[in-house]
Amino acid sequence: MKFLMVCLGNICRSPMAQVVAQDMAGQLNLDDLVEVDSCGTAGYHIGEKPDRRAVSALKRRGWSAPDHRARQISIHDFEGFDLILCADRSNLDNLIRLAPGYDDKVKLLRSFDPTGSGSSLEVPDPYYGDDSDFDLALDTIERACSGLLASLVPNPGG
Ligand code: 4NP
Repeated sequence: MKFLMVCLGNICRSPMAQVVAQDMAGQLNLDDLVEVDSCGTAGYHIGEKPDRRAVSALKRRGWSAPDHRARQISIHDFEGFDLILCADRSNLDNLIRLAPGYDDKVKLLRSFDPTGSGSSLEVPDPYYGDDSDFDLALDTIERACSGLLASLVPNPGG
């Protein structure tokens, strides 16, 4: 399964989701099955490393350091990935507008978060916030990635 995590700038939410999903896949021995990349709908930060606050938030919880440079989504990504998982409804609208024929592959990441519903189905944008906003975004990302991987292996222990 190839997952593409998407946010606006590809420096905060989607690189955190990429690391968490890939690390969790490793913990579940699904490394051979799961490949995760990330990108942004916008091109403001192309080539940049993840925001240092995102790197710190991951580190505080023991997740891996991201090894990623920001890139903008390409039309080819819609063919190359099995699921395109975005952070918020604005991303979702932009993705569907970009590739209307692929809307079955494009989902809100938090549609896999068992605690998410209705208006809470977004990963809140921490860019204009502080460390606590990055922690909050990471809370939602962790729950959603856990739900995503559980959907591949409904009963990992059994
Ligand atoms: P991200 O956060 O979409 O989670 O990477 C943002 C990054 C940059 C901007 C906004 C959000 N920006 O306006 O440059």
